[in-house]
Amino acid sequence: MVLVKGIILHGGAGTRLRPLTFTGPKQLIPVANKPISQYVLEDLRGSGIRDVAIVLGETCPEMVKEYYGDGSRFDVKIAYIYQGKPLGIAHAVGLCRDFVGEDSFVVYLGDNMLQNGIKEYVVKSLDGGYDAYILFKEVEDPTRFGVAKFDENGRLVGLVEKPKTPPSKYALVGVYFFKPVVFDIIRELKPSWRGELEITDAIQLMIDRGYKVGYSLVDGWWLDTGKKDDILYANMLVLDERVQREIRGEVLDSKVEGRVFVDEGAKVVNSVVRGPAVIGRSCLIEGSFIGPYTSIGNGSKIFKSSVENCVILENACIEGVSRLEDSLIGRNAKVSRNERSGVIRLNIGDYSTVEI
Ligand code: G1P
Repeated sequence: MVLVKGIILHGGAGTRLRPLTFTGPKQLIPVANKPISQYVLEDLRGSGIRDVAIVLGETCPEMVKEYYGDGSRFDVKIAYIYQGKPLGIAHAVGLCRDFVGEDSFVVYLGDNMLQNGIKEYVVKSLDGGYDAYILFKEVEDPTRFGVAKFDENGRLVGLVEKPKTPPSKYALVGVYFFKPVVFDIIRELKPSWRGELEITDAIQLMIDRGYKVGYSLVDGWWLDTGKKDDILYANMLVLDERVQREIRGEVLDSKVEGRVFVDEGAKVVNSVVRGPAVIGRSCLIEGSFIGPYTSIGNGSKIFKSSVENCVILENACIEGVSRLEDSLIGRNAKVSRNERSGVIRLNIGDYSTVEI
């Protein structure tokens, strides 16, 4: 089999996920207690790709290196490449020329998730001998994405990045298969209106010059997790499909119903937990209700509260909150009830959102 390398893009500013993205890259935000980019890495590994480069951005790149290390924990070999400022996907790919060498490769945006993974497309792109192979998914609002343009015979003739008037409903998924010829194309690109080297422009040039560009329409769900609600939605889908019941921690005077994963060292006391849900290592849940579609990060504590459809990161503390729903709570954050009625006290980070 031809060797295929993998590139995970782990940069970008993540402005729509502030304040969490001030203290870490968005791709490390967990879904069902696992960073989104880990699903990406596992998908690459599951497709037979063991040689991976992670392209790092400006926000806490050392956190990414610390988490993934040399890759041996994930049965892959990882190289790190610094992009720094978010100058575009094509810019990031251009930095990987030496890493790629003469091999075919996959570029996978570290905040994208595909229900059925990429394995079949790795095979299709290789078997078809494509210079570039891309994936589309029909979406309601294509204006957020790169969008496919087809001619009257249904032939792919172009790609438009974030169009005001989309030429179709087919959005470009953030997974791209290339041969090294793309590096020569990238060198010719000029920054777009948003100041980035666009991968859509590179693929457009390849189509215009008669390179072999193929595509598939993706079955199953595809997510680009750029905002809070995308994270909650991804969390819901992953809990629904991939979490099995397993109680490794301690459950005392409590009801734990359905597909609930309680990790080692966690304690559930005098509470009700209704799955699907995951409760991380060394959590303490006391006198509380944990409803469906909730993921609670390692070391968090929930006292006398009711929590549902939430993603709570590590070492957070929720106390005396009667109904916390549809929320994304950062590391070491504290949410508690104020005994003086009618008074709200806040100490929140820049760009936080609070709904009262
Ligand atoms: C990027 C690409 C876009 C693609 C999207 C998929 O958008 O530029 O073509 O549809 O990823 O996630 P961005 O994340 O830069 O907004």
